[in-house]
Amino acid sequence: MEQNDYEELACQLRCPEGEKGEQVAEIMFESNCKMIFKTIDRLQIEDCDNILELGFGSGKHFPYLFQKAKNIHYCGLEISPLMIDFATKLNQDLIQRENISLKLSDNSSSLQLKNNSFKHCFSVNTVYFWEEPHKYLQEIYRILQTGGSLALSYIKEDFVLKQPFAKPEVFHFHRTDWLIRIMKNIGYSSVEQWQYIENTPNKLGENVVRPFIVLKGFK
Ligand SMILES: C[S@@+](CC[C@H](N)C(=O)[O-])C[C@H]1O[C@@H](n2cnc3c(N)ncnc32)[C@H](O)[C@@H]1O
Repeated sequence: MEQNDYEELACQLRCPEGEKGEQVAEIMFESNCKMIFKTIDRLQIEDCDNILELGFGSGKHFPYLFQKAKNIHYCGLEISPLMIDFATKLNQDLIQRENISLKLSDNSSSLQLKNNSFKHCFSVNTVYFWEEPHKYLQEIYRILQTGGSLALSYIKEDFVLKQPFAKPEVFHFHRTDWLIRIMKNIGYSSVEQWQYIENTPNKLGENVVRPFIVLKGFK
């Protein structure tokens, strides 16, 4: 791959678009599905929970989420219109049967959602694209119900920095202890982190051993 290809891949990971965007969506799921499932597992979802996800990508994990409990209300926010179409087409049957709303968001940290309206929020592999993560964390806190939780997952910085597509113009890294401090300052309680190591294909199709973190806190 040439430098230009890596730059394009970085931009596609931030916001998939065009024909290549669909291929990238498939690759992202292959590479990230275990991470997504572990994050969902950490939420301890119960019947009738309202769940928000930021950056759902392909939406291939929706069936996994919906088998966790009955009558889940899911709202997914995406900045990529392509991912909204992709996930809608892929999950047509599920969308008819279940309560799923997929919305375009404007890449700003102000979420057009009501206060105290979600039991859980999760986001996997999007924090690198948040220039001001404290604003997102504050907004998520606002929309969570008391007792609700946020699970935020990301690949460890030292691993991602070795990937040729991790362009600093696109990817922003935030240290875990800093994210935890911000969460605690905002008011999140019982903030915990779990570190995992997984075997998975990376975005270039090579098998890698990759460390990732799930951070969780409660309102
Ligand atoms: C690297 S992909 C990760 C997708 C999926 N969560 C995964 O782990 O495979 C990042 C996704 O988040 C979306 N995204 C990036 N910034 C976002 C934001 N501020 N709000 C909502 N979605 C965002 C992108 O369009 C893209 O689909």
